[in-house]
Amino acid sequence: MPFDCTAESQHFGCSLGLVLRQYARELDWARDGVVELGTGDASAVAGVVAGVPGLRVRSWDVDAPSVVAARATIAEHGVGDRYTVEHGDFFAGSAGSPARTVITNPPYLPAPDGDLELPGLWGGPDGNALLLRLLDGPWEHVVTAVASYADPVGTLEAAADAGYRVTSFLAMPLELGRYSREPKVLARIRELVDAGRGWADEDSYMVAVALLTRSPALRGDRAAELAGALQLPLVPALAAA
Ligand SMILES: C[S@@+](CC[C@H](N)C(=O)[O-])C[C@H]1O[C@@H](n2cnc3c(N)ncnc32)[C@H](O)[C@@H]1O
Repeated sequence: MPFDCTAESQHFGCSLGLVLRQYARELDWARDGVVELGTGDASAVAGVVAGVPGLRVRSWDVDAPSVVAARATIAEHGVGDRYTVEHGDFFAGSAGSPARTVITNPPYLPAPDGDLELPGLWGGPDGNALLLRLLDGPWEHVVTAVASYADPVGTLEAAADAGYRVTSFLAMPLELGRYSREPKVLARIRELVDAGRGWADEDSYMVAVALLTRSPALRGDRAAELAGALQLPLVPALAAA
């Protein structure tokens, strides 16, 4: 079954559209296209592709019903020539791609195991396993959703270690919905929050869509501001960097 959270998908899509437009020259996506980890039903990104001429997205999803739904969404938007989706693992499929930019609203549910209502949403014990794996890859630019309850400071530290800086981000609160409230997920969120490695209150958490870059063409580092927007302090060594 495809991921279904309109508020989260819309925030990802709107923020992604802004970032791609604002940094079109620096990211130069018109040259090599972009790749996407996790298509879902494509409702988040199909409208962005339709509204941004010249944008080409090659996407992968491990969930077969999502791929079927995504192909229908892409056809409805009339962008099948510029937005393609393949069934399979992003890391295997994208190896050797000429793209330098990856976009993703990654799986970020923290839980002890992946036996969840939607197993494809599992982000490992801390929620950031796939994002950390992405940051360990060859990408020059990563446009990604970062959730406040999924060890975002650990993610920012790993990003800095891998040579990424935070160029910009758009943050908003989201309700803890049915996926986050699955009992073993919610219990793990509370553990991370209690350990100071995440933030969520009774009803909500924060999500930011951030542009991380290794490119010298984009200056500055907003990592401390991003941690603040996610309600967490950044460790002093990183804040001073
Ligand atoms: C949070 S959903 C995001 C879907 C869509 N981008 C959106 O924002 O509405 C994450 C998606 O990543 C997919 N996924 C998980 N692991 C993956 C992997 N290794 N390769 C490709 N897709 C993956 C899941 O099946 C799920 O559809």
